Amino acid sequence: MQAESYNISILPGDGIGKEIAKEARKLIDWISSKATFNIHLDEEYVGGASIDKYGTPLSDETLKRIRQSDAILLGAVGGPKWEKMDFEKRPERGLLKIRKELDLFANYRPAIVFDPLIDSSSLKPEVIKGLDILIIRELTSGIYFGEPRGIEKINDKNYKGFNTLVYTSKEIERIAEVAFETAMSRSKKLCSVDKANVLESTELWREVMIETSKKYPKVELSHMYVDNASMQLVRNPKQFDVIVTTNMFGDILSDCASMLTGSLGMLPSASIGINSNGQKKAMYEPVHGSAPDISGQGVSNPLAMILSVGMMFEYSLNKKVIAEKINDAVRSVLEKGFRTKDIYSEDKILLSTNEMGDKVLEEIKE
Ligand code: IPM
Ligand code: MG
Repeated sequence: MQAESYNISILPGDGIGKEIAKEARKLIDWISSKATFNIHLDEEYVGGASIDKYGTPLSDETLKRIRQSDAILLGAVGGPKWEKMDFEKRPERGLLKIRKELDLFANYRPAIVFDPLIDSSSLKPEVIKGLDILIIRELTSGIYFGEPRGIEKINDKNYKGFNTLVYTSKEIERIAEVAFETAMSRSKKLCSVDKANVLESTELWREVMIETSKKYPKVELSHMYVDNASMQLVRNPKQFDVIVTTNMFGDILSDCASMLTGSLGMLPSASIGINSNGQKKAMYEPVHGSAPDISGQGVSNPLAMILSVGMMFEYSLNKKVIAEKINDAVRSVLEKGFRTKDIYSEDKILLSTNEMGDKVLEEIKE
């Protein structure tokens, strides 16, 4: 019998993306050397790195190859070097193109507080202890992709910049299904975040959420306006379990939620698409960006990337046991007092990116 085999595309991207992708590689290589299945890792270019190499943030060939792979791991994209470029050519467009082309419409952004890191949060310990919430962000529609969009000249002295916030009921329905199913597998509490008092597209969002809820009578659905939700996230985050929201609100709320946990450097994410044959396609990436200010110094935190690898094993490769091992290793490294700079405090042991990757690997080996 032929051994199980998986093709994984790894796209380090820019800035610290490159450093943390190395640590992910190290981990995957080791796991694959011990496992009964084979993993083939292909490294690809995206973002600024791809602009420098191919003149575009995502080449057609790269897109074709990653489409064939079983899962995609992405570091981060962007940096000052490419900021002045035309909008369509910027590094971020590469990331957005992968999301759109692969139809990765459901973005899972968990915010979990690890006990040893409670003091890294700017909030009081009692507010965040035990926090475990999940933001499900719609990822391929809304204002990020709506047409028309652009910057136009009105007259010599005046321009207009515009974007369109649009959702079809079908787009809302499919993210609603994902959110309700996920809520069913957790505490059966779902909060839908919108701005239905001002924006028609999210008034429709709310209607579809209510309609879908009829299929899930066991799930307690609540609604919140986004301004209130951002306030509640900081005031009393433990009132939430699963949050479902639009592309842009999810972008903003997930950065906010990530800081509840102490560092943006700790949060993994999964972006999942399900085609009409029920097949899953998924990309895994840390929530943090390319952090050009600290890149190249070996101080970045690889844990969000490592936890993203864990999500990949669970969701794309169906290896929950391995995912749990990775999560436990991260927890245990933190319990032993090892920290990268972003989560460091005085009585702890400061590690470089590379050393942190090694420590996690050591734990797993045990
Ligand atoms: C994110 C990022 C991206 C987004 C950028 C890099 C395009 O902020 O994944 O949250 O806005 O979606
Ligand atoms: Mg963001």
